[in-house]
Amino acid sequence: MKNKSLVSIHDITKEDYNKILNLAEKFEANPKRIILEDYVVATIFFEPSTRTRLSFESAASRLGAKVIGFSDVASSSVKKGESLKDTILMVSNYSDVIVMRHPKEGSARYASEVSPVPIINAGDGSNQHPTQCLLDLYSIRKTQKKLENLDIAFVGDLKYGRTVHSLVIALTNYKTTFHLVSPEELKLPSSVKRYIKEKNLEYHQYTEMDEVIPKVDILYMTRIQQERFADPLEYERVKNAYVLKNKMLDDAKKNLRVMHPLPRVNEITVDVDDNPKAYYFKQAQNGVYVRQALLTTILGVDVKN
Ligand code: CP
Repeated sequence: MKNKSLVSIHDITKEDYNKILNLAEKFEANPKRIILEDYVVATIFFEPSTRTRLSFESAASRLGAKVIGFSDVASSSVKKGESLKDTILMVSNYSDVIVMRHPKEGSARYASEVSPVPIINAGDGSNQHPTQCLLDLYSIRKTQKKLENLDIAFVGDLKYGRTVHSLVIALTNYKTTFHLVSPEELKLPSSVKRYIKEKNLEYHQYTEMDEVIPKVDILYMTRIQQERFADPLEYERVKNAYVLKNKMLDDAKKNLRVMHPLPRVNEITVDVDDNPKAYYFKQAQNGVYVRQALLTTILGVDVKN
């Protein structure tokens, strides 16, 4: 992965995932290591973000790197009409790696083709979010002590949820049984289901969440992605389709953990937060360690024990 872009979860192998997750464990044990003091990390976000941008910036800062970038296109020359290509060429003059979020699917791939420095895709439209996928794998492995042979439920917006697309594809490497809960109009796209079918793995589709909860090891809740709907009425119809309340976890397996890439809107009521099965805030914290592992790997910097 040294000097390579990370655009899609397809760009890396199962062996790469394991290396990153093992390295992230080292950073969790000791996150403050000044080993990137000679590097500049750029974060350019054309779409809003709290966790991805700040955890990348925190990861880089804790490793001693300098961080530059913008989180609001209105404060950049994109506002004056500068193209994505020109923006990437300029930012690559000033940095060693570029972390980019953009609303257009395929924009990260395009940026990686024109950029002389590696591009890390921090989310491109409803397509992919590979670094979220890696922190999700880390969180699953940490809570379940394994990745193989788990029953995992994905609930909510499986059509537009880019975190779901990347994670489902990655989990097809681990004999996962998938439980896919969504309204009819927000089902997992066939282009993603194809990967499950290719590995001859089981998947079950539901429109109700209750029957799924007692069966699974991970309950991965997602937000209905309002910003991806062309028709506001369609969003209104499905926006509160699934709301997880504490009581609903009474019959869950002991090892079940509730995950969510966040932000949540109404999908998980606050009474779940104190349940030991709630893992979403810790999941977001794990993002710092995984992103430290990614930055050092892509920049080719050794990490001592
Ligand atoms: N999980 C995630 O991508 O969150 P942000 O949109 O806050 O970065």
